[in-house]
Amino acid sequence: MGHRVTLIPGEGIGPEIMRCVQQVIEALQLNVEWETTVAGQEALAKTGRALPEEVLDSLRRNRVGLKGPIGTPIGEGFVSVNVSIRKALDLFVSLRPVKNRPGIASRYENVDLVIVRENTEGMYSGLEHEVVPGVVESLKIISRPACERIVDFAFKFARDHGRKKVTAVHKANIMKMSDGLFLEVARGIAPNYPGISYDERIVDAAAMKLVRYPERYDVLVMENLYGDILSDVAAGLVGGLGVVPGANLGKDCAVFEAVHGSAPDIAGKGIANPMAMLLSAAMMLRHLNETDGAERVERAIDLAIADGKATPDIGGLGNTASFTQAIIERL
Ligand code: NAI
Repeated sequence: MGHRVTLIPGEGIGPEIMRCVQQVIEALQLNVEWETTVAGQEALAKTGRALPEEVLDSLRRNRVGLKGPIGTPIGEGFVSVNVSIRKALDLFVSLRPVKNRPGIASRYENVDLVIVRENTEGMYSGLEHEVVPGVVESLKIISRPACERIVDFAFKFARDHGRKKVTAVHKANIMKMSDGLFLEVARGIAPNYPGISYDERIVDAAAMKLVRYPERYDVLVMENLYGDILSDVAAGLVGGLGVVPGANLGKDCAVFEAVHGSAPDIAGKGIANPMAMLLSAAMMLRHLNETDGAERVERAIDLAIADGKATPDIGGLGNTASFTQAIIERL
């Protein structure tokens, strides 16, 4: 049976790397049919909405999407399309596996951790207002049901994937009520998973310990903003943003996307690393029960890197197109 997938090419390097993904999946000869939709600046100019309803309708219909990065104006302009998709479809989990891959030089070996980020509330509620001129209030929303489902997901994921430990990352020493609630929920759920050990880290200390002893971490669960920041920290441990994939998961729908953004500094130069997007596509293939296809993509990427064919950000001599070609030849 075929798979119909909503494709959002995205902006900046998005369309460049998404072309690579489509070429690789075509070479696998899997029966994937793309339904291409547009969100971001181009959609805003055409339809007056950065996230047209038809994009969400397509995702609801197909229940699986592959999404390129979309830029968000800083300090003004439209609400983040990325955050809006996650909220509209209740994609409450952001799952980001971070591990060393052979052939990519980094300061560490043995990094193999998973960031589980709450994706729908926290500091990303988007509820901000000016109380009086010069005083702005930004609301951080933490709710018990959202804490329960994200922490429970983290433990289930750990159990089902042979992981040993879940670390709850928080700032409950300062935000005693909001992060306190998150921690209270985590402590309540941990005993339901006797095979998985549980510990806690204050987010600032977690950032420091991650860059000193990344091998000590396994599954980390945290609220939205901490997950956003620590995902990039973790990407830095294994070769940078060009190599870390991700998935946004809900009850009814899954949207796969790399951790990185639209990288305007290198867009159009033909040197963007397609690997993070390809690994996200491999996660999508696993989700679609195309495990063999996912494994072939991952192996081909490793082989192409070993042969020096990767893009410059991870020390290769290739570019986006030649790296992609090298991967296809090694499938
Ligand atoms: P970024 O992730 O786009 O880039 C940070 C640095 O990493 C840049 O030097 C870039 O060249 C490099 N980089 C990123 N991806 C790469 C790749 N595949 N290959 C090689 N190098 C790569 O972060 P930045 O510059 O902070 O954000 C740019 C825009 O992207 C912003 O408008 C931001 O809002 C948006 N963004 C979108 C995300 C999404 O769609 N999920 C996630 C993060 C940022």
